[in-house]
Amino acid sequence: MEEMRKLFIKQAWRSYVIGSTAALFCAVSLIVFHTSRLSAGELYIVLLILSVSIPVMLLAEWYAFKRDTTSLRKLTFESTPEAWQAAAKETLYFPIACVKRVMLPHFIGISLPAASLTWMAILMDLLTFSPLYILLAVIAGLLIAGLHAMIEFFLVYPLSVKLAAVLHEQAPVPSSIVHDRSLFVTSFRRKLIASLVFTSAFPVLMLLLSLQVRRMSGVTESIIEFWTWASVLVLITAGTAWAGAWLLYRHLLTPLSKLHEGFRRVKEGDWAPVQSLFGDEFDELSNGFNAMISGLERREKRNRELLQNVFSFFAAALDARDEYTAGHSRRVASYAVSIAKEAGFSESEQDLVYKAGLLHDVGKIGVPDAILLKKGKLTEAEFAAMKKHPEIGEQMLIEANLPAEWIGVLPGVRHHHERMDGTGYPDGLQGMEIPILGRLLAVADSFDAMTSDRPYVKGISVQQALLAIEEGKGRQFDPRFADAFLHVMKSASKDKGIPLEAVE
Ligand SMILES: [Fe+2]
Repeated sequence: MEEMRKLFIKQAWRSYVIGSTAALFCAVSLIVFHTSRLSAGELYIVLLILSVSIPVMLLAEWYAFKRDTTSLRKLTFESTPEAWQAAAKETLYFPIACVKRVMLPHFIGISLPAASLTWMAILMDLLTFSPLYILLAVIAGLLIAGLHAMIEFFLVYPLSVKLAAVLHEQAPVPSSIVHDRSLFVTSFRRKLIASLVFTSAFPVLMLLLSLQVRRMSGVTESIIEFWTWASVLVLITAGTAWAGAWLLYRHLLTPLSKLHEGFRRVKEGDWAPVQSLFGDEFDELSNGFNAMISGLERREKRNRELLQNVFSFFAAALDARDEYTAGHSRRVASYAVSIAKEAGFSESEQDLVYKAGLLHDVGKIGVPDAILLKKGKLTEAEFAAMKKHPEIGEQMLIEANLPAEWIGVLPGVRHHHERMDGTGYPDGLQGMEIPILGRLLAVADSFDAMTSDRPYVKGISVQQALLAIEEGKGRQFDPRFADAFLHVMKSASKDKGIPLEAVE
């Protein structure tokens, strides 16, 4: 935050220098235009007047700048939430404070001493021109200050929005900076009207001023001189209109680019809210956008849950077809997740393992009741039909056009009956050729199959099944997952202080 605060103050001064330079450029051109008519003595007096007025202006401005950044400068990580809110408000208000600073301490700071000193010099016969010039110079000064204020306002605005976002992010109490109406500093309508009125009035007033000066100087001019002067005016008019439009466009771009970034992130599946601290109507627009994406996110979550429920229901319906395997899919899914956890899988990988466990036998839907529910040993042909279920399951899921986060289950469904020695089915893959999900599910599936009763054979005990897994390491099972499962089962039995026999 410290860095951002320093950068903000530095950039604010930079904007001030840019605005002042533009104003100074106009003022100097005006002075140069007139100094040609001043004698050396008069020029000396004018420079003396400026050397007194400019420090007065800088002093008044320095004081105003300090006052405009009080809350921001005092802010520390120990400050109260109210102080953070005040600093955010001050930051968003800063561009308007700049306009006020330029129009009051800056403009009055120079024009008041300069005008009164010039007036005195005229009274003392040190300067010979008409006092009306003072009035004209003050009006010209006012116009130039307006131009300066507009430039500074638009240059400072993106900085203040950026700093407000940093304050919002770094506030020690996250809710310190409340997005309420108190952070609404000015409406976009007002900014639009003010800048359009100013950019259109500025050249006309400049025209009137120079007409007045010409009338007073009483010079007659040639047609060429008139049109040169007129062309300069046209250029000034076009230039101010262009600058005003460009600054307004840039001003609009700040919130629009944040919204655009928000849309792009949503497209990439990131539901993070966009910044909504702009101090104008865009606060409401971005708050609306944030409400919309949080609604979409909730719906997306609900859809995911619904899909999971549909598949859980599907698995339960499948298991219910065969009274001997009731709950098999759900149990395999939970054994598989405990293996995945033990083997160090990430949360999202564990989620995929669960889904694969739930769906691993989905292809049994395609196996006729006469085979699936047969009370007795299967014939070779029947067993061959039974062995088709991993492929049928995979095909069914491909046709179901699964959403992206479910696609990863396919290798688990197809390969959960492969064996490390290559004697499994459907593809007879060997060792590490078998996809990781297949190797993992094989352990969970075999354990549940061994411990469940079948129509023709009673299930073996947990202890015996674990022994079979131990013995099948490397031949039937991937040792990594077999060991992980054995470890999980042994520590579960130890933790609960019950013999392995009773661990489900
Ligand atoms: Fe199976």
